[in-house]
Amino acid sequence: MSPLRRPVPMTTPTRTTDPVQLAALREDVVRGLTAERKTLPPKWLYDAAGSDLFQEITLLPEYYATRTEQSLLGDVAGEIAAATCARTLIELGAGASDKAAALLGALAGTVTTYQPVDISAHALALTAPSLTDAHPGLSVRPLVADISAPLDLPEADDGPWLIAFLGGTLGNLLPAERAAFLGGLGAQLEPEDRLLLGVQLVTDPARMLAAYDDTAGVTAQFSRGVLHRINRELGADFDPDAFEHVAYWDAENQWIEMRLRAREAQTVTVADPGIRVHFAAGEDLRTEVSAKFTLDGLAKELMAVGLDLAVVWSDPSHLVALVLAAPSTSLPVS
Ligand code: AVJ
Repeated sequence: MSPLRRPVPMTTPTRTTDPVQLAALREDVVRGLTAERKTLPPKWLYDAAGSDLFQEITLLPEYYATRTEQSLLGDVAGEIAAATCARTLIELGAGASDKAAALLGALAGTVTTYQPVDISAHALALTAPSLTDAHPGLSVRPLVADISAPLDLPEADDGPWLIAFLGGTLGNLLPAERAAFLGGLGAQLEPEDRLLLGVQLVTDPARMLAAYDDTAGVTAQFSRGVLHRINRELGADFDPDAFEHVAYWDAENQWIEMRLRAREAQTVTVADPGIRVHFAAGEDLRTEVSAKFTLDGLAKELMAVGLDLAVVWSDPSHLVALVLAAPSTSLPVS
């Protein structure tokens, strides 16, 4: 038993206290806006309004990833359950837990605990009541946590674990962050535990770009939301409409970027902690990286951190993949 597997009685969400999150936001804003190339980590897009906007994005005709993964998951959940026999399902970046339903249904014979983990307390709050209705006896233990920071998973004691990280959120991490994240998780796995990753695959650039530049403008609103958030939480004076939404495919890094491009030169003040930020006309602020994967590339990334790609499922158009990974030593050598 790993030292992380201490049983912790818990029925209500653990909140990352606001001051802690605020300090992290302040730090990211100062670092990101004073850098040569301005960037913000995508996690700050997900305040209550941003989480709602993302839900709206998943319904857009251009945004194929969510519905494709959902349908694939519906098709193969039984196979995933048979391959894992998990007693505990931990879902990272669970949002409102709409992705977990198929897994929980398929795992009904073995699963006793469901732990959704998300940075958005707002999204998690939508979770528990409906799930306990559908699965009486299931212990639901929501956890508010920033999964991009090293994450200890002490609350689920009951193995084997299935740690699900669906919805393509892995793509929000930069390659070095992914390695740290996957390695950190892998180190907490027992041989029989499994990691289920839902990733978006590299496909036609026009199709990928359209998914981040919808005609209804919801994605633009989602991206500008981070400026509203910085205005509200750090007393900045961004004019979000002074920035144009841009989606960009970086072919070398194999990721989509959302950028906010200053329509004209402007200076923004962030009251807390008191910095002035200058934007040249046409200067970009990157608000999100969304990496797309090849199965070869992902297998290599996993191997580099001691994980093996055990099983892959994909939709007929190869837009997304569900990948089951196992600690390297746990699979028979072939
Ligand atoms: C939730 C991170 C998977 O990158 O596709 C959607 C977020 N950003 N439209 C993605 C997002 C713009 C989404 N993920």
